[in-house]
Amino acid sequence: MIKALRGMRDLTFDDGRKFTYIIKKMEDVAKKYGYEYIETPILEETKLFKRSVGESSDIVGKEMYQFIDKGNNDVCMRPEGTAGVVRAFIQSKLDRRAGERFRLFYHGAMFRYERPQKGRFREFHQFGCESFGEESVYEDFTLIQMVSDIFKALNIKFKLKINSLGCNRCMPRYRDNLIDFLKSSEEQLCSDCSRRVSTNPIRVLDCKNSQCQDILKGSPKLVDNLCESCSRDFEKLKSLLRDNKIDFEVDINLVRGLDYYNKTAFEFISGEIGAQSAIAGGGRYDRLVEFLDGKSTPAVGFAIGIERIMDIVELPYNGRDGYYMGVLDSHILDILLPLVHKKRGEGRVYLEYKPKKLKGHLKGADRVNARYCLVVGENELKSGTVWVKDLELKIEKVISMEDF
Ligand code: HAM
Repeated sequence: MIKALRGMRDLTFDDGRKFTYIIKKMEDVAKKYGYEYIETPILEETKLFKRSVGESSDIVGKEMYQFIDKGNNDVCMRPEGTAGVVRAFIQSKLDRRAGERFRLFYHGAMFRYERPQKGRFREFHQFGCESFGEESVYEDFTLIQMVSDIFKALNIKFKLKINSLGCNRCMPRYRDNLIDFLKSSEEQLCSDCSRRVSTNPIRVLDCKNSQCQDILKGSPKLVDNLCESCSRDFEKLKSLLRDNKIDFEVDINLVRGLDYYNKTAFEFISGEIGAQSAIAGGGRYDRLVEFLDGKSTPAVGFAIGIERIMDIVELPYNGRDGYYMGVLDSHILDILLPLVHKKRGEGRVYLEYKPKKLKGHLKGADRVNARYCLVVGENELKSGTVWVKDLELKIEKVISMEDF
């Protein structure tokens, strides 16, 4: 038997219904915030992710679905959505329309060659929003509020963590201080972190190793090294969240696993799904457009992990809906077809092709969770009627085909 690849899975029946229900809720909220849909290819040039997500990140270093295609191009299945959206933004020259705002949302499959476990897949789905052209911290707040609204609409409890990663004025200075500090205790760091000291020292801050965390207790702190403008924006973000009753905590070690962030970084955590508890993440990435050869454009965004949400969300009970239609004799089927087609204009219709006795049809209607079971036999045909049972109210009736 051929099976799905490790870390990849099918979404069928209840899972499929839950998946589309979640996406619909997210879309509804994003549209209310003025976001428009964008679709970008799953396959992109590998260098797009190397330059955006970062060569030293775990995603690019260890987890890419990368290969050489038949035209000898080095390509990669997207590990996340932001890089492709930024590429599309630049390619369609939206970066040249100074002063305009572009707010885009997307959803789709992402691929990371990680070790699969609960809540962590090799193919997973994200719903994301990217906002271009707005440098105000009100936009950072509004995006966080949007994620919070999405989780409220889905009845999901969350914890919000925020941090500021500074800008290209204050971050390099902090980075140098941190490197000096880390070098003094390099031998005690885990092997990943001692490599990171020279490749990406900021990532040491969110290492889960307890010895690294102990060493970090004495390290210089990012929040104490912000320049005046970053500090002002971070204070404003906190006060906006407080004033609008969105609970949060500042996590001074929150740096995110992708290299493109500056200033605001945030993560939404759920207490209900075990170790892989991050259900959404995002932040500001003001340098990325320029870094990918576009015109410098401030930007901020987030992505939500759909699979992790699916573990928490309960599908509301929908009840029975639509029609099940069946015949007692096979020749009646052809006569019934126009009526079936007309009813499909109103809602879900399941048509049984096989003639059956009434009892068989009632069972069939129950199996497909139909509200109404409609059966036509010789008698009904002669009198121009149909037999209908409302399976919820348990009422049976014979009514004229025309009225039906
Ligand atoms: P990220 O934190 O790497 O950010 O991913 C966002 C969310 O995707 C995570 O919080 C998690 O829920 C889900 N996720 C990540 N990896 C997996 C996996 N292997 N299996 C299941 N779910 C997973 C980004 O991808 C950024 N592009 C977010 C962003 C948009 N920042 C700015 N704009």
